[in-house]
Amino acid sequence: MENKRNDPTLTPLMRQYLDIKKKHPNEILFFRLGDFYEMFFEDARVASKALDIVLTSRQNDIPMCGIPYHASESYIARLIKAGHRVAICEQMEATPSSGTVVRRDVVRVITPGTVIEQNLLAGDDNNFLASIVLLEKEIGLAFVDVSTGDFFLSAIPRSLDLYRGEIARFAPREAILHGRGAEEDEPFAAHVRARNIPVNRINDWLYDIDYMTGTITQAYALASVKGLGITGGAEILAAGSILEYLKDTHRRAFDHLKLPQRIVSSDRMILDEATIAHLELIVNAQDGTKHRTLFALLNRARTPMGRRALERALLQPLLLTADIERRLDIVQYFFEYHGLLDDVRAALSGVMDIERVLTRIAAGRVNPRDLLAIARSARSADAVRDVLSPQPHELVAALAAGIPPLGELAARIEATIEDEPALSPEHGRVVRKGYSPELDRLYELKKDARTWVIEYQEEQKRELGIPTLRVKYNRVLGYYIEVSKGQAVKVPSEYLRKQTLVGAERYTTETLQKFEEDILSSSEKIKELEEGEIRVLTEEIVSARSALQAAASAVAEIDLFASLAASAIEHRFTRPRFNEDGITDIREGRHPVVERYYTQEVFIPNDLALNAHGSHILLLTGPNMSGKSTYIRMAAVIQLMAQIGSFVPAASADLTPVDRIFTRIGSSDNISRGESTFLVEMNETAVILNNATPRSLIIMDEVGRGTSTFDGLSIAWAVLEYILRYIKAKTLFATHYHELTKLGEKPGVANYNVLVREHLGAVEFLHKVGPGTADKSYGIHVARLAGIPREITARAAKILERLEKSGRAKGADEQDDASEQLEMFNAANHLVIRAIQAIDLDSITPLDAINELNRLKKLIT
Ligand SMILES: Nc1ncnc2c1ncn2[C@@H]1O[C@H](COP(=O)(O)OP(=O)(O)OP(=O)(O)O)[C@@H](O)[C@H]1O
Ligand SMILES: [Mg+2]
Repeated sequence: MENKRNDPTLTPLMRQYLDIKKKHPNEILFFRLGDFYEMFFEDARVASKALDIVLTSRQNDIPMCGIPYHASESYIARLIKAGHRVAICEQMEATPSSGTVVRRDVVRVITPGTVIEQNLLAGDDNNFLASIVLLEKEIGLAFVDVSTGDFFLSAIPRSLDLYRGEIARFAPREAILHGRGAEEDEPFAAHVRARNIPVNRINDWLYDIDYMTGTITQAYALASVKGLGITGGAEILAAGSILEYLKDTHRRAFDHLKLPQRIVSSDRMILDEATIAHLELIVNAQDGTKHRTLFALLNRARTPMGRRALERALLQPLLLTADIERRLDIVQYFFEYHGLLDDVRAALSGVMDIERVLTRIAAGRVNPRDLLAIARSARSADAVRDVLSPQPHELVAALAAGIPPLGELAARIEATIEDEPALSPEHGRVVRKGYSPELDRLYELKKDARTWVIEYQEEQKRELGIPTLRVKYNRVLGYYIEVSKGQAVKVPSEYLRKQTLVGAERYTTETLQKFEEDILSSSEKIKELEEGEIRVLTEEIVSARSALQAAASAVAEIDLFASLAASAIEHRFTRPRFNEDGITDIREGRHPVVERYYTQEVFIPNDLALNAHGSHILLLTGPNMSGKSTYIRMAAVIQLMAQIGSFVPAASADLTPVDRIFTRIGSSDNISRGESTFLVEMNETAVILNNATPRSLIIMDEVGRGTSTFDGLSIAWAVLEYILRYIKAKTLFATHYHELTKLGEKPGVANYNVLVREHLGAVEFLHKVGPGTADKSYGIHVARLAGIPREITARAAKILERLEKSGRAKGADEQDDASEQLEMFNAANHLVIRAIQAIDLDSITPLDAINELNRLKKLIT
């Protein structure tokens, strides 16, 4: 391409294109030409393929393709989803101010983490861009959702585990990464790549504390960053770099971004990647969607802000009892006053995605319906305040006070914009009738041009006393008044002669000229005036930005509480109580997600007590499918729900706030990360052992399962012993290793099992947990239920019996003999083999062969 630039046969337009393209080697350049965006060269090849549009060529065989600009959003969406970046190059003037081509410039670079278009966003979900700054001792993290203005900031110690947790929590769509180029940075970079998050970099030299401090203070017009509470270099570099990147991609002031909110680790629970995944908080393990998750269960939010707030709350449980109780107080108030809850939720339903609408408006992508959305949302927010502010509960009334009065703004918008405005002034009426006399006149004029002409003609006839006077129109003269020669003497001096014909004179008047001008330019003028009104309104909305954002945050919080209350009522939850004695005492607890989505009959509630009787480790044995995993997860889920301020699925729950919830559950293979099941299991176990404290809750499901029995058992044993002796964390440990129950005899550990009833050879799962140990696994029973062929389960039962007699130490093979091995085969198989041996291939006819084959097949099916 480079060598083409100096090609003298290139048109000035192509030369301009190449100059701009040179600055955007990594983007597909959308080059505006009239009503189209054109792409050339390699961009055209890539885009035509990705978008399935025709590749043509221009002079000099330049490959090109184009899309109409008004339909560009969906095409851009497809390119972004396919992993491309798109640079939008617009015409910056209507006619060339110098030279032969109009000035063009890139106005925006669209990347997955910086989109604001509705089409490009996945539903209500936050769309975060991350900036990751890897320093020697710590990591600075900034997360910005451009579409909502959310901006979060944190600095964490340089630990892969904590880092993974933060990435899982925010699930960014794109990241900018900065390290010191050291090899130790590789695992951090690799983690983002493994999650398919596109990684970009900005200039290394920008990562300078003074420079980035300047970037931040400039962006928010601050004197210093002190007011933001930012102190550390890691946070400054992360915040600064993300702002630099946004400047680069959006090319305009970013004044709708909220102030960076620091995530303080001392009042929010750290959740690691494994726990977020295992507890299926936001997405499920089967298909990665939000269905059948804790989020789905609790989400009764009425607004997009509320849904995002709930998601954030789930991923940032609280640590301080006072914070938790504050939330619970409000939830309880809504829970008890159903009528109030209904009223609040009804009012909330009218609040639209203020944050995103505001972003679009501030970015200059104004759609009249977005303006109305602001008005409607402002009215609804007012209604929410009116419902809540008279409430006697201090905290509830305080929530209402968070919504600033927005009635005036709403009234302004409603007075200006039609109830059902056109998509834009080009498409029809936007400004309300009666708002602007000038606009109304123009619309009338346009609509009533014919009537006006007739009325004017009649009026002139009367005034001049010329019954034959006519107002006419033709392309050359436009509008004119025609009077016959004989009557011309009656024409007053204000009449201006336009043309003289044989038998008639043609005139115009100032009024008619004005009418003509108006009519010809009324469409233009209407558009201009309407755009002007929209602009004024837009400015008013943008200057009310902080009030609108405050309303959005207050609505988000209220909706979060209303949602928690509504789901508590719906699912029969109760308010948890907190103690500082380390005691966990849950009566009739349920696993809400299993209960709601996975139980055919009734869910059997279970009690759970830790520390109450001196044991902080609960060792759970029980048959397969009995409910071990469900029980221990229930403990974690109830604890987590309580710490976000939700009611919990139990008859009663006494809990102590925990500092972290650790989970080691099932096999979470991560083949894409190139780690084996067992390695993942040991990694997660290591994280737990290295980080848990006496105030933590640990859930371990069949640790050691991924390796040979003895290795597994020994590891499980040692891990438990370590927790018992050194960590002293509350621990629920589900296992099939019955040998471990010996540990249960030690002080601090209690043996529990899930009960089953066995009668007439059938096994019934009671799903009831009680003290004691299980004596059998019933694994073979479950295998039979699952459809494993009878001969195999029968054989397994025999092997099991022998193993149990001789102690588990010996494997089955040592004692097997050839004839028993053969039992594995069905007798029918022997018949088939014999029959095949008996066939005489020399004498059999093709038809007989087929018949025989058919018979054999029947034998084995
Ligand atoms: N308390 C309960 N009430 C009703 N059904 C339950 C209960 N607990 C579990 N179940 C049902 O039993 C199924 C199996 O439960 P779970 O996976 O917890 O068993 P498990 O003991 O961990 O089995 P495995 O040893 O095979 O891992 C669940 O999917 C659920 O449908
Ligand atoms: Mg299990």
